[in-house]
Amino acid sequence: MTYLLALDQGTSSSRAIVFDAATGTPRASAQREFEQLYPHPGWVEHDPRTLVRTQRETAQQALQQAGIRAGEIASVGMSNQRETTLVWNRRTGEPVYNAIVWQDRRTQPICDRLLADGLLGEVRERTGLIIDPYFAGTKLAWILENVDGARAAAERGELAFGTVDTWLIWHLTRGRVHATDVSNASRTLLWNVRTRQWDDTLLRALDIPPSLLPEVHPSSHDYGAMGADWFGEPLMLGGVAGDQQAALFGQVCFTAGSAKNTYGTGCFMLKHLGTAFSLSDQGLITTTTAQHGEQAEYAIEGSVFIGGAVVQWLRDNLQAIETSADVQQLAESVPDAGGVMFVPAFTGLGAPYWKPKATGALVGLTRGTTLGHIARAALDSIAFQSAALLRAMGVDGQDHGVRQLKVDGGAAVNDLLMQTQADLLGVEVVRPAVVETTALGAVYLAGLASGVYRSRQELEALWRAERVFTPRLSRAQADARMAEWEEAVRRTTGER
Ligand code: G3P
Repeated sequence: MTYLLALDQGTSSSRAIVFDAATGTPRASAQREFEQLYPHPGWVEHDPRTLVRTQRETAQQALQQAGIRAGEIASVGMSNQRETTLVWNRRTGEPVYNAIVWQDRRTQPICDRLLADGLLGEVRERTGLIIDPYFAGTKLAWILENVDGARAAAERGELAFGTVDTWLIWHLTRGRVHATDVSNASRTLLWNVRTRQWDDTLLRALDIPPSLLPEVHPSSHDYGAMGADWFGEPLMLGGVAGDQQAALFGQVCFTAGSAKNTYGTGCFMLKHLGTAFSLSDQGLITTTTAQHGEQAEYAIEGSVFIGGAVVQWLRDNLQAIETSADVQQLAESVPDAGGVMFVPAFTGLGAPYWKPKATGALVGLTRGTTLGHIARAALDSIAFQSAALLRAMGVDGQDHGVRQLKVDGGAAVNDLLMQTQADLLGVEVVRPAVVETTALGAVYLAGLASGVYRSRQELEALWRAERVFTPRLSRAQADARMAEWEEAVRRTTGER
């Protein structure tokens, strides 16, 4: 048997999964949720050491559960929450500040500055992104501007910057490797996705010393041997990718027009563009896919900030359910949301609206509204936001060209949500047999780098559908529902 190990460092938890390479199926997994830190409204942080500790614990636990020795792992793949930003001291490895999480909105003033300087066009052309606090560059600038001594230490070359992958690689290799992959670099606002270099103009605009930056490699690459202190013996790290690009890879979406939506903390829909870079005119971004081989490939992406997190909010803040899985039963206790619309703009609204200052709203409440209606509206909100993304996927007024949407992530197991999604989209929603597609993509990349797999065709042959959800609403009915949603969004953002 050949095994591959995935390390999946996500926003809400760290996970590790041992895969059987021959079938691409999980054999054992471990997961640890960790604390989210909210020091001020709109700020979201993680303790950097907790990310390392939980990742290490889950890796060890998954190996134990699989009943195998580390030496039996052919290669390790890593996927990670993207954009979350860390800065640490190169000599001591000590972080100078907490990890600033992708959802954090504190850098809006820095974004306003870039916009006032007229940089939007440059940013779009060079990075495929827009100017929004979501991306790492302004978070790095904030740390340099606000943490005592950080700017001076950075100027002296003493500090290192990284997204979560880079931070973990640093620890896994005991500080020998300071690196990231192209898919993570493409989320920094500092990486030129067309020249495939750190971009001097953008570094100057944000006043970032280049000495802070990691080396950038293809996603499928020999990143080096990882420390024996984690696993008892050294293992090869052969794959690194941002979790959403890893999921696109794990769904074997390798050709233009193939698309997936991942239902995690947020929802992230990516449509492969092939090797041609193009920009959306509908509020979506262009990003680099996980790279295997020499050629850069691109995807168009819509990012919804609150997806499955709305269910966590029902569980933790409203205490409406005990476990996240209970939401389906509560939502099915009513035939529909009874006119309630839930716009979960807890951290602003992402694509395609980009309203960083929006806050959440429940509209259409009556005396007859029950928790069941609110739960149903919460699930609907995940499907509405994702449907708005697909509608925006056409470039320059063309049809989105997606004939089938592959789904994955925690909430993809919810049949009610998947049916609602197919109804609103008007395309088939296909759930694969392995919904752990993020982790799967990471080990596919690692397997390609280590020679366990020889080609993408081999991976395509491993992919299996588990269930197909076919649209049941007419297009006119779906359009009417989408119009109600858009009206609720306008009421939330105060726009008419
Ligand atoms: O861009 C943020 C994304 O990578 C986070 O993914 O799965 O942690 O919600 P997830």
